[in-house]
Amino acid sequence: MDRIKDVAAKDAGGEVTLNGFVNSIRKGKNNSFIILRDPSGLLQCVSKNGEPAFDTASSLTRESAVEIKGKISKDDRAIGGYELKITGINVYGIAEPYPLKKGHNKVFLFNNRHLWFRSPRVTAIMKVRSTVFEGIHEFFTGEDFYEIQSPSFVGGSVEGGATLFETEYFGRRAYLTQSWQLYAEAMVNSLWKIYTIAPSFRAEKSKTWRHLTEFWQAEAEMAFYTNKDAMDVEEALVKSVLRKVLDKNARELDVLKRDVSILKKSIETPFRRIRYEEIIDMANKKGLSLNYGSDLGSDEERAITHDEDSPIFSINYPRKLKPFYHKLDPDDETHVLCNDLLAPEGYGEVIGGGQREDSKEKLLKRMEEEKLNVEAYNWYIDLRRYGAIPHSGFGLGVDRLVTWICKLPHIMYAVPFPRTPRRLYP
Ligand code: 4AD
Ligand code: MG
Repeated sequence: MDRIKDVAAKDAGGEVTLNGFVNSIRKGKNNSFIILRDPSGLLQCVSKNGEPAFDTASSLTRESAVEIKGKISKDDRAIGGYELKITGINVYGIAEPYPLKKGHNKVFLFNNRHLWFRSPRVTAIMKVRSTVFEGIHEFFTGEDFYEIQSPSFVGGSVEGGATLFETEYFGRRAYLTQSWQLYAEAMVNSLWKIYTIAPSFRAEKSKTWRHLTEFWQAEAEMAFYTNKDAMDVEEALVKSVLRKVLDKNARELDVLKRDVSILKKSIETPFRRIRYEEIIDMANKKGLSLNYGSDLGSDEERAITHDEDSPIFSINYPRKLKPFYHKLDPDDETHVLCNDLLAPEGYGEVIGGGQREDSKEKLLKRMEEEKLNVEAYNWYIDLRRYGAIPHSGFGLGVDRLVTWICKLPHIMYAVPFPRTPRRLYP
């Protein structure tokens, strides 16, 4: 089976057989022009009145599925510079009048995501997304990490109780996991460098352009690594994924009209590491009025990173702003050894990470502060009882990374079938 992308490589006059969908069709008395679509692109196919395939070509409708045979001819006016003279058509499925047209609003399009998914723009985003997953696996495998999984049904929170999804579990209460991290901290003692790519779940009540209820995290945990070491890994990971996307998806980024200069700049520039207080000062210089102690949400990070041309680390937050597992900064125990990686162009946080508290006493004290049910975490505290080691890790929001790389207006566009508080269909 040929693909549209291979047409240019064949000589004019060469024959191809292509499967595809009718992206659009223009019917005249003398000619039928079909724009055929496959995963690799679009191709104009033409049939003249009097030719054997003309009647079938004229009977096609938008989004019908077909097999088309034909001869390639060079045509500078056609998309891609080639046209196919149709010699035969086999119809797989005639489409009913297609509900999607130009100019529909976002709600209508997401209600029809199962159909909209075929569009060249969505296809381009999904190809970039696929490359991002591939790039993440390639990076970790190349750095001698083991890929390892944690359960999705769990007994307690990782990132705070406010966003826990609760579910009935044979007469008990269970939650959908917010992160693999706590289990990673057990597994890291045996494997030392580990990662996973898995869905995380959060009952996010805030409706922002960057929050989903189900999202994909690429998480890593490293034994004997400090917060600084973790940042080195994060930076190398993001740069490696960007390189891969630029290498593999030039055509898709072009379809998306993405200015790639910022992506290139991000590969070349060392990511600055800026302490939380300095980040607050930066924000206030841009007109926000934040205190030392204010949390940074979507709007704040949008303002902070709006004029940046490469990612920055925001590090060492006040302990009150971060979950119990973060290691207290030995130089100032009001702060923790953590890092958030903020993407430029207003996108903000794409990674959250840091060093883990390895002292049993300090961990228990913080769990008390956060009013956690210590019983449910007994196994986690064991990890500090039996050979506690310094260790660090992070979670990369894969959907957010795709959103930034493609410069999308909302995270929903980066996900095949997004889940938000309001969206469970299709
Ligand atoms: O910063 P977060 O909450 O960190 C953790 O979950 C850590 N336990 C990870 C770790 O150290 N192993 O989440 C990590 C990343 C965020 O930086 C963000 O990119 C993404 O996950 N994220 C979301 N993406 C989409 N929708 C949401 N509701 C998200 N919440 C977090
Ligand atoms: Mg975070």
